[in-house]
Amino acid sequence: MGQKLRIEYFVEPDAAALARRAAQHFVEVTAQATAARGRARLAISGGSTPKAAFELLADAQEPLRSAMPWDKLDLFWADERCVPPDHPDSNYRMTREAMLDHVPLAPERIHRMEGELAPDVAASRYESELRTSFRLEGAELPRFDLIALGMGPDGHTASLFPHTAALRETSRLVVANHVQNKDAWRITLTAPVINRGASVFFLIAGADKAQILREVMLGPRDPERLPSQLIAPSGGILTLLLDKAAASLLPATGGKGMGALERKG
Ligand code: 6PG
Repeated sequence: MGQKLRIEYFVEPDAAALARRAAQHFVEVTAQATAARGRARLAISGGSTPKAAFELLADAQEPLRSAMPWDKLDLFWADERCVPPDHPDSNYRMTREAMLDHVPLAPERIHRMEGELAPDVAASRYESELRTSFRLEGAELPRFDLIALGMGPDGHTASLFPHTAALRETSRLVVANHVQNKDAWRITLTAPVINRGASVFFLIAGADKAQILREVMLGPRDPERLPSQLIAPSGGILTLLLDKAAASLLPATGGKGMGALERKG
């Protein structure tokens, strides 16, 4: 807390260009990680925005698919709905249909949150999965090479929703979080785990996100109301991949397509 955070935002003209930019970002960061460390561990979000990027990564006609080092990456999730993996609301199902069914990622490299289990059981099992996969000891946090986040119109990210218990969790890696206004349970990585990520980015599209994005990035600090403000990667840089509509209330990029802000983390 208190450390300066540099927020770099990249603005694409429309949703299709944003999806391509996001897919390229996945490939670039994953390739850097595998070149440096021989492997890459990614945590992705669900919702609707990332779907088009996942489809591009899976498109056999696209160079991106063959550029992705599938044999060296392990895929995790930032959050999941507490539903079975074949449920229409499942983040895993969306990812499987958009990408996993079409790429050479081995099943043992796909680390699904088990939304079909009791929420606390699913959270504990995923925490154990992280401890095993990252060979964690004691209070050590997993350091994902890349964490892809979305932002809801209420300022939530992953399943860190406004005024929910998960926002105040500072020791667990993964928790079950009850979301009152959805009357639903979620499984989510906690903010400390997300902030430990080597590279963390938000992927945000649409005019309906412009106001909340401005509040999160430029407004007074109020993470209980704006949980996305909890995201302040320890490396001091946060990346935003935006379409023009979502970026419309941020300082203009002056045609360069890229802007930067500073905020107290
Ligand atoms: C989820 C996501 C969630 C998502 C935001 C944005 O489980 O829904 O992980 O955090 O990123 O709600 O969702 P959209 O991309 O659909 O706007």
